[in-house]
Amino acid sequence: MNFARGVNKIMSDMQNPYLPYPVRVDQIVTETDDQKLKTFKLVFLNPEDEKKFSYIPGQFAELSVPGKGEIPIGIASSPTEKGFLSFTVNEVGVVTTHLHMMKEGYVMGVRGPMGNWYPWEEMEGKNVIIIGGGFAFTTLRSSIVYMLHPENRPKFKDIIVVYGTRSPGLLLYKDELASWERRDDIKMHITVDATNDPNWKYNVGFVPAITKQKIKSADNAIAIVCGPPVMIKFTQPVLEELGFPPERIILSLEMRMKCGIGMCGRCNIGDKFVCKDGPVFSLAQLKQLPPEY
Ligand SMILES: Cc1cc2nc3c(=O)[nH]c(=O)nc-3n(C[C@H](O)[C@H](O)[C@H](O)COP(=O)(O)OP(=O)(O)OC[C@H]3O[C@@H](n4cnc5c(N)ncnc54)[C@H](O)[C@@H]3O)c2cc1C
Ligand code: FES
Repeated sequence: MNFARGVNKIMSDMQNPYLPYPVRVDQIVTETDDQKLKTFKLVFLNPEDEKKFSYIPGQFAELSVPGKGEIPIGIASSPTEKGFLSFTVNEVGVVTTHLHMMKEGYVMGVRGPMGNWYPWEEMEGKNVIIIGGGFAFTTLRSSIVYMLHPENRPKFKDIIVVYGTRSPGLLLYKDELASWERRDDIKMHITVDATNDPNWKYNVGFVPAITKQKIKSADNAIAIVCGPPVMIKFTQPVLEELGFPPERIILSLEMRMKCGIGMCGRCNIGDKFVCKDGPVFSLAQLKQLPPEY
């Protein structure tokens, strides 16, 4: 096959939703003291692939580690950040461990973007309450960076963030959290479950309790909640008590997935596929589904 035909074949292959785009690992940042969470900054090998990979905060992608497999991971970068994608990955099993062993310069694959996104049109003109726990803060980081972009910030009223982890060393994006703390167009409530660090200057307490303490009203507000199931379970009634109707409580679900495009039937809840109809659902939508999430 000559070079031009080879390139044409690759271009047509890229339309196949099962084929990943090749990317280079440009930077790896270890986020947490336990070294279990790393952020991978990935750059497309073919710059034109970046245009094809047009995404919206809340979406995810399948990361493909050659010879090891694929895993769904929320997109942590914002579309307002150009030239790269970033993903923050917890080391839990086979593929994530191999990903953690990769070095800068290695080549791997990204398939996507996949799934739906936070309801950006509905959020315009509203107070946005972002509630995150643990490493599920990834797509919330994408959303915050997106909302704070000078072109987007005027579209939203108050932006209030409650973000918690078990201990200070497990917080993601520490430099960015500190820079958001200093701004007056976003209100941060960072918390940890417990700490004996005498220099800790933020909150101590579980995310639902801090939400109850800090969020005063559901008026003209929409809440985006992303975290471990136990955090979601106890945050949901706090928001309902504050007066948030189920339509204005937005949750992002993490289910076991394979194809990521609604073909294999691995991720369904009732008649919905989490990979295609989600991962973002309002509580009102979830109340219509079997309690399998
Ligand atoms: C839409 C979506 C977004 C996600 N975003 C992120 C993210 O931003 N960062 C991140 O670190 N992880 C994220 N996950 C979870 C991630 O996909 C899993 O941790 C990963 O697939 C584990 O792969 P593995 O081969 O290393 O683990 P395996 O060897 O397959 O399993 C190891 C352990 O992880 C558990 N596990 C496997 N898959 C999942 C899953 N999908 N959800 C929960 N537990 C699982 C297994 O039950 C087992 O206990 C997301 C999942 C989904 C569906
Ligand atoms: S992962 Fe295949 S249908 Fe959702």
